[in-house]
Amino acid sequence: MSVMEKFRTMEYGPAPEDPKESLVWLDRHQRKFGHFIGGAWKAPVEGGTFETIDPSNGEKIAEIAQGSAADVDAAVRAARGALKGWQSLTGHERAKFLYALARQVQKHSRRLAVLETIDNGKPIRESRDIDIPLVARHFYYHAGWAQLLEREFPNDQACGVVGQIIPWNFPLLMLAWKIAPALATGNTVVLKPAEYTPLTALAFAELCNEVALPKGVVNIVTGDGSTGQALVEHPGVNKVAFTGSTEVGRAIRKATAGSHKKLSLELGGKSPFIIFQDADLDSAVEGLVDGIWFNQGQVCCAGSRLLMQESVAEKLTKKLQARMSTLRVGAPLDKGIDIGAIVARVQLERIDRLVKQGVAEGATCWQPEVVMPTRGLYYKPTLLSNVHPASIVAQQEIFGPVLASMTFRTPKEAVELANNTVYGLAASVWSESVNVALQVAAELKAGVVWVNSTNLFDAACGFGGYRESGFGREGAREGLREYLEPKWFRKAPALRANGGGKRAAQVEVANPTIDRTVKLYIGGKQARPDSGYSLEIRGKNGTLLGESPLGNRKDIRNAVEAARKAESWARTTAHNRAQVLYYIAENLSQRAEEITERLAAAVGKKQAAEEVQLSVERLFTYAAWTDKFDGAVHNPPFRNVSIAMNEAIGTVGVICPAQVPLLGFFSLVLPLIGAGNTVVAVPSEKYPLITGDLYQVFETSDLPGGVVNVVTGRATELLKVLAEHDDLDALWCYGDTEMCTAAKALSVGNLKQVWSNEGREIDFFEVSQGEGRWYLGHAYQVKNIWVPYGE
Ligand code: NAI
Repeated sequence: MSVMEKFRTMEYGPAPEDPKESLVWLDRHQRKFGHFIGGAWKAPVEGGTFETIDPSNGEKIAEIAQGSAADVDAAVRAARGALKGWQSLTGHERAKFLYALARQVQKHSRRLAVLETIDNGKPIRESRDIDIPLVARHFYYHAGWAQLLEREFPNDQACGVVGQIIPWNFPLLMLAWKIAPALATGNTVVLKPAEYTPLTALAFAELCNEVALPKGVVNIVTGDGSTGQALVEHPGVNKVAFTGSTEVGRAIRKATAGSHKKLSLELGGKSPFIIFQDADLDSAVEGLVDGIWFNQGQVCCAGSRLLMQESVAEKLTKKLQARMSTLRVGAPLDKGIDIGAIVARVQLERIDRLVKQGVAEGATCWQPEVVMPTRGLYYKPTLLSNVHPASIVAQQEIFGPVLASMTFRTPKEAVELANNTVYGLAASVWSESVNVALQVAAELKAGVVWVNSTNLFDAACGFGGYRESGFGREGAREGLREYLEPKWFRKAPALRANGGGKRAAQVEVANPTIDRTVKLYIGGKQARPDSGYSLEIRGKNGTLLGESPLGNRKDIRNAVEAARKAESWARTTAHNRAQVLYYIAENLSQRAEEITERLAAAVGKKQAAEEVQLSVERLFTYAAWTDKFDGAVHNPPFRNVSIAMNEAIGTVGVICPAQVPLLGFFSLVLPLIGAGNTVVAVPSEKYPLITGDLYQVFETSDLPGGVVNVVTGRATELLKVLAEHDDLDALWCYGDTEMCTAAKALSVGNLKQVWSNEGREIDFFEVSQGEGRWYLGHAYQVKNIWVPYGE
């Protein structure tokens, strides 16, 4: 027998990792854990306990405290109590704690990896080589941000007490993604790990004490969804960060709508894995192994939809099946295992149910003849072919080792298929043509796109979704924004009914000139309202200034449609968009006198003059930003660059400030259109007649029709329609607390991003409040495109 033959026929011997150290640790705790509150272990107040199970063999590992509302309350109090002390430390002092945590994770890396594998069922190779090193990397990276924070974010402050809820698929890694940026920015934390996988969070709690982290800065409360719910609803929490299912994400969006809690959601995905005919097919197959069989496919960004160019589909499928036949399913502590156990029986049953449904809907199911363990929760690597794009297995997250494949003919069709889901978390594109790969990457609706690679993560590169995959980013500079807010914003007073702020008192009413009637402005044209009704608009002294249309649902629908059609605006160059904004400024300033005169009838001469003057300035500001609010190129520790592009979000609804009709309109609309979004704006209800001036200015300024659409009417009614509209990507709402609550609560349908003034008053006349990076940060979303180099 030749060496080669021997090599080929050699069987794998068992290569189990020794779990001794982890078992000793568990025994040291008598295999029973309380909550970690204020730096000490606390028995549950009333919630009892539950068991955490090793899914690879069904054996009980330890008993875990079920957190009640009282436990959550104690933890939130501890976090609140620790806040002042934590914030009084310098950035450098906080950096040292984060650094110490990183070091401690490294020191205990093997124990943590084994614990993770026992609790979750993932192969030890993954927890050892991917999860835990990334955890350490995250703390190192954020130690750096703690150090730089005061210099890099001088105008921001921490949110306060943060409630964080994480899933079971990457337990310690998700903890790191949550805790590291929160601490670096000066927040304190209550974290609830998933009920199936609480152990590494509890081990981490101990590390916090080992590095003498001030008590109460990190608190861990274990329990199920009801514990999570209590945390979300606790009034002492200032921000909620969640990773998990889209369904629970929706519930959390709703539950936090009536509060000022800042929210970030990292939800599900159905990420496309697109292989073009010119791809290196063998590499692509290896990529697929990583894309869908990594962590048993229980990955939010798993490449679960295989899109193959038709000409290579057959060849590729054969290669893939051959590779699948070599995958080894088995005890996850064995170092030679590719696919470990599924986390829990309900998840296994869910996978099975979805696969059966896919087959019933016409898919062909193929599974290799691999040896399966006789006990524990395992599922064979599975390929579903001939999947219809509308089938449940092409649309819903399966969260298991199941790949659904489809074919396409052209790059255009690939993009259409790829974007044909409600999600937008990640995508993988395989082609040897850099032009094709990058063109497709740009057109995909996804927060992360891996070119000729997949499932790469790094703390320096932001991660997070588009559309129903959630909002907010984790990692990178943009990830910090989720835990910070402008210092002035928290202190801003509540919006008064008569608004106007300090300027309201100075009103000196001008004589109205002519009574004017405006129309809606949709798709670059004036349009009559569907209702046929108008509202009378009166000035400060009660005189009739004119009439404005009473827009309704149908008008909003038309406006959204027009805005969607104008989305090529995002693909014009930043230089062109800047030119249009400068041109609007020029035309506005030419008509300044007449516009001021008309506006004065509603807001007084002084405010009107200021509004017009500052609007011209604001136009210049955003024209300036348009080609300067750039993305970044990150250098992750791989042979890769990650291009972080600032992209337009899409079509955005805007409820404009009532009391500052012109400047308020521009302050919200300009950052959005400068970024390439298209807008459906509801102008000031107090003085909607501004629409008449706006459309004249827009029309003479080369603003393409449909980029800005204006629907006048009752703000609260139109807000509802915008919030519920499933084809809007984001909503900006300026209004009182009730309106801001409605904006958030009613937007759960498609989980659109909501920016609001939180019912507070923003002084748009103050440059520090009325313009700049804060608005721009909400007008763009970051897409990370990972591009490899080298052979
Ligand atoms: P889940 O979304 O219910 O659980 C995630 C976390 O949220 C857990 O810590 C859980 O205790 C907590 N939670 C549950 N209900 C809550 C509530 N009402 N308020 C606050 N917190 C709550 O996910 P589950 O049930 O474990 O998995 C179901 C499906 O969700 C999976 O099959 C998968 O499709 C998806 N999923 C997606 C994840 C992702 O990373 N995108 C992670 C976990 C699950």
